Amino acid sequence: MTERMTEYGRLLVGPVSELFAQAVALAAHQHARSTAPAFTWAFSGGETPQAWYRWCSEQRSIPASLLASAHFTVSDERHVPLDSPQSNFGNADRLLLAPLRIPADRRHPWLVDRPPVQSAEAYIATMESLVGKKRGYDVCMLGLGDDDHTASFFPGSPLLQNDDGALFAAVLTVEKGWRLTITPAGLRACGQIVVMTMGAGKAEAMRRVFRDNYDPIATPAQILKTCAERVVWLIDEAAAAKIA
Ligand code: 6PG
Repeated sequence: MTERMTEYGRLLVGPVSELFAQAVALAAHQHARSTAPAFTWAFSGGETPQAWYRWCSEQRSIPASLLASAHFTVSDERHVPLDSPQSNFGNADRLLLAPLRIPADRRHPWLVDRPPVQSAEAYIATMESLVGKKRGYDVCMLGLGDDDHTASFFPGSPLLQNDDGALFAAVLTVEKGWRLTITPAGLRACGQIVVMTMGAGKAEAMRRVFRDNYDPIATPAQILKTCAERVVWLIDEAAAAKIA
C-alpha cells in the first residue's frame, strides 16, 4: 500500500483486501483513543460498503472490543423503509450488524417512519443523547459518487452553501428526492473520516476532486478539504489512476 499526504487528506492506495482491513484498523485505532461517552461508527451507502460488510463478516475482522461497545449508524440515508434494498442502514443491518448480533440499543437507523425534517430532528436528539451536543461520529465512513457527491452533498446542494451549524439534516435533492445526512459542519465534528472508493469507474471523479480547482458546490467531495487533517482515503489502483 502506498501513502501520501494531500490537501484533501491522507491518501492510501493499494489492493482491495488491504484497504478493507485498513478501514477496520482505523476504527480500532480511533476506538482505543476515544474519550466519547459512546463510541459511534457510521457506515455509508453504495456498493463498496456492501462488499466490505461481506468481507468483514467472512473474515471476522472487527475486534471483539469494538463489537462489544460501538454504536452503529450510517452517515447518510434515503427516506425509504429499512427493509428496502435502497436503505443504507438496512443494508448494513442485513449484511453486518444482524449477523454479528449487535444489540438493538447500539444500532441507530435514521427514523424514516416520519417526515424527513422530523427524521433529522429525531436523529439529532438520538445522537445528542448518546454523545452530547455538537459532537460528530468517532468514525465516519463515506463514499464517492460518480457525480462527485459524498454523504448526501450533491452538486449545487444547499448544504454546501448555507451552513447553519447543524450536524445532521434533511435535504431535498432535485434528482434523488429527500435525503438524510451528516452536514459539512458534522464532518468537521467527527474524529476520523474514512472515504472508501474503488474501481476504474471512479478514476474521473477522483481526478476532479484532487486535480480540479477548488469548487465544492460543483465538486462536493472537495468539501473534505475543510477537515483534511482527519480524512483518510482508501483507494484502489484503478480509482487512483488519474491522480498519480
Ligand atoms: C447513497 C450513498 C452514496 C455512495 C456513493 C458511492 O446513499 O447514495 O451513500 O453516497 O456512497 O454513491 O457508492 P459506491 O460505493 O457504489 O461507489
